[in-house]
Amino acid sequence: MEFLDIPPLHRAAGVIRLPGSKSISNRTLLLAALADGVTEVRDLLDSDDTRVMLAALRTLGVDIEPIGSDAYRVTGQGGGFRVKEADLFLGNAGTAFRPLTAALALSGGDYRLSGVARMHERPIGDLVDGLRQMGCVVNYLGKEGYPPLVVRPAVASLTAPIRVRGDVSSQFLTALLMALPLTGQTAVIEMSTELISRPYIEITLKLMARFGVIVGREGWERFTIAAGQRYRSPGAIHVEGDASSASYFLAAGAIGGGPLRVEGVGRDSIQGDIAFADALAAMGARIEMGPNWIETRAPVRGGLRAFDLDLNHIPDAAMTLATAALFADGPCTLRNIASWRVKETDRIAAMAAELSRIGALVEAGPDSIRVTPPTAWVPDAAIVTYDDHRIAMCLSLAALGGVPVRILDPGCVAKTFPGYFDAYARVTAPVICIDGPSASGKGTVAARVAAALGYHYLDSGTLYRLTALAARQAGVAWENESAVAAIAARLNAGFDGDRITLNGVDVAGTLRSEEMGAGASQVAALPGVRAALLARQRAYRAWPGLVADGRDMGSVVFPESECKIFLTASAEARAGRRYKQLIEKGVTANMAALLKDLQERDARDSARSVAPLQRCADAALLDTTELSIEQAVVAVLGLALARNALPRAS
Ligand code: DC
Repeated sequence: MEFLDIPPLHRAAGVIRLPGSKSISNRTLLLAALADGVTEVRDLLDSDDTRVMLAALRTLGVDIEPIGSDAYRVTGQGGGFRVKEADLFLGNAGTAFRPLTAALALSGGDYRLSGVARMHERPIGDLVDGLRQMGCVVNYLGKEGYPPLVVRPAVASLTAPIRVRGDVSSQFLTALLMALPLTGQTAVIEMSTELISRPYIEITLKLMARFGVIVGREGWERFTIAAGQRYRSPGAIHVEGDASSASYFLAAGAIGGGPLRVEGVGRDSIQGDIAFADALAAMGARIEMGPNWIETRAPVRGGLRAFDLDLNHIPDAAMTLATAALFADGPCTLRNIASWRVKETDRIAAMAAELSRIGALVEAGPDSIRVTPPTAWVPDAAIVTYDDHRIAMCLSLAALGGVPVRILDPGCVAKTFPGYFDAYARVTAPVICIDGPSASGKGTVAARVAAALGYHYLDSGTLYRLTALAARQAGVAWENESAVAAIAARLNAGFDGDRITLNGVDVAGTLRSEEMGAGASQVAALPGVRAALLARQRAYRAWPGLVADGRDMGSVVFPESECKIFLTASAEARAGRRYKQLIEKGVTANMAALLKDLQERDARDSARSVAPLQRCADAALLDTTELSIEQAVVAVLGLALARNALPRAS
């Protein structure tokens, strides 16, 4: 895809399950590969950079076997790599390139490491200098100080402390720390400059400890690894959600109202980037944290406040803060971020250019950036992304300024978060929830409103009907909760105009039968089935918006929706509509029986313990007893306008 158009957005709220952390994923893979024993790595991030690491380790002879989705069994080599000759292409993955360089330099083989053109512009001299001090042979194939590199066999000797710079990238120190236990000797590293991005070193030290190697630390100046320590598999290890990826959603909640909850990182995280939440708090955002989740909301009163912060400890999440600055009440200054210049692109220059495109006034310094929020937002700005995933993700927040934004080369987010834009749409697309009792006409009205607005349409009743039908076809009884829930979770359904397919077969007719209505009603009363369909229903939330029809859309599936409508009509009117429908279909019907049936069903639905039929406190009541379908559609559109759920409302 050449570009992605994001519609003007006005609100952000909902729940996001984060993908695994890139930093933890790639470190864990390398440590598992060097360890004694087999490690099960769970919740590994699936992205370009982790794929680069997996492929490199396999080339180096490490046995890595997938076990289910996002999990791998890594058979450690119990020391340096056994394959002694390899040519590795590592894309633009710094978290693979640097640590592998160090580990290969201590593996006693002949290796060549290269990457994309940008990787060859990213410095690595400080790491190579460190390795050479212990006798490793690492040579530049191109420009001095930069990849590509060749590594030759050598015997490491650690008689003196290794002195290394820490002011360009903390990844050089991480690489040395992770590789040094391969020597079996006591190793001391002394920083010859200030160390930046310290929280990333904490991640490294904590993961090394999980694999049994303890690093002594004196301040941030001196690190000691005592002789004889070896990496040992911890058995199983779970990768936390990515705290840098969390930053986009946390900011979105602070800008776009919230509550927006990210799951996968929280108070117990080992990632320094959760300190991003403190920076948002300094802007006035409301933050709540649990052990494994963080939730943000806009300030109680007024907008986000301007800030002037040293962000050396969170360079990646700081980019998100630079975009949040667009929404502040005055100029914002981000300091001590020189490392931006040697990342995927020169991020200071890139952020300055792209924030200006939106209408901000930006002053870039050698190691700082100052952002004055736009007085007028520029619509349809085409954001250049420089093959830098973080530029694409953080600039996407600009659409919350109520202007359409175009992201060029949106696929670059695959470096760390392939599903980013879907996830972002899932918390920003407007949702019109239409709940109500059966035969209230909500299905017809909802479908017409969706068509009028060009929104997606979720007919949740059909999902329950499909579940009932799929269970029937599989010979599973409708009351068998766990079996029906498993069927609901795997439902292979397709929607295409009037066609509804189950396992590729059109079943639209069968679904509307009374029998499947009864089956749906039965399976819908099972909590396991409702839970199994929840994520699927939430995934319908996409740009430009969604009309969701069903009794629990506003109460359970999209509780964050600002536009909830409870559509009802008197039991008599509903019975009359159903009677008319049946007669038109040529089915004989009895008005009194239909009315009794509806009244009984209303009573059952309102009284049932699972997803009872009830109007949310924040839902608008629309009584359609006296309205035609057209009038009901117009009334719904009016409510959606008042509640800011129309495409271009402001
Ligand atoms: O709207 P419908 O008649 O197609 O719904 C079929 C059944 O599923 C009905 O008994 C209500 C139930 N249902 C539910 O419990 N929750 C929803 N969100 C939608 C339908």
